[in-house]
Amino acid sequence: MHESHIDQGSSVPQHVAIIMDGNGRWAEAQGMSRVEGHKKGAKRVRDVISWASEAGVKQVSLYAFSTENWKRPKLEVTALMTLLATLLPLEIPSMRKQGVRLLTLGDISRLPWAARKALKKTKEATAHHDVIDVILCLNYGGQQEIIEGVKAFCNSFQNEIEKENALESLNEESFRSYLWRDDILPVDLLIRTGGERRISNFHLWDAAYAELYFTEQLWPAYTQEDFQEALNDYMRRERRFGKTSEQIREAKAS
Ligand code: FPP
Repeated sequence: MHESHIDQGSSVPQHVAIIMDGNGRWAEAQGMSRVEGHKKGAKRVRDVISWASEAGVKQVSLYAFSTENWKRPKLEVTALMTLLATLLPLEIPSMRKQGVRLLTLGDISRLPWAARKALKKTKEATAHHDVIDVILCLNYGGQQEIIEGVKAFCNSFQNEIEKENALESLNEESFRSYLWRDDILPVDLLIRTGGERRISNFHLWDAAYAELYFTEQLWPAYTQEDFQEALNDYMRRERRFGKTSEQIREAKAS
């Protein structure tokens, strides 16, 4: 069932997911406030989109705010939401120029009104762009996505017989359609900056086969060379999806 992914081993990843960690530590090291670190981090978001586009990546998803991030000090949460609400609409002209379409992943209904408004405006203004998708993951949690998928599956049947038949034939492919991934390609490469080696509830379903790449670099200091190195590392790997190297070579040759 993963046949369609096989030729991606040596080509540019189509979907790169990024856990942008280290804003706080970077700011502290500079004697700045954590919020200043997030501001600098937002600038890197801008940069990474153009680096990804230049490299031929089709989708970039960015972990901007997790379901667990609500536990941060109220002031920091407000600052992140304000950054989102103020900066996003300003990016529309540049998104137009670069052909960037904005998508979101996560339950954005809990976000403050101004943030929701900015997201709606930017999504609508960029809906027809087709060079690269930027998927902002907001109030997103991978476990929550799977639980919601189970609920959506259970609620989608008229009667018990229909449900039992669907349950019988349920597999990885059919279940994916109950997740929040309609427009989202499988994650090929998942990058985490900031030195930790965790997935932190990001893209759990797709993490099953994503290639993982961890770097010590803190997000505000992330450079195009760092990003290119992650892509190069990915392109050197062989993605086997449970098969043997020999099977992969044969499939490529045929
Ligand atoms: C992790 O750094 C970063 C975040 C929790 C938020 C990511 C946000 C941005 C990159 C800014 C752009 C903002 C939006 C909303 C689009 P951290 O604070 O956990 O850093 P630390 O581990 O050093 O404390």
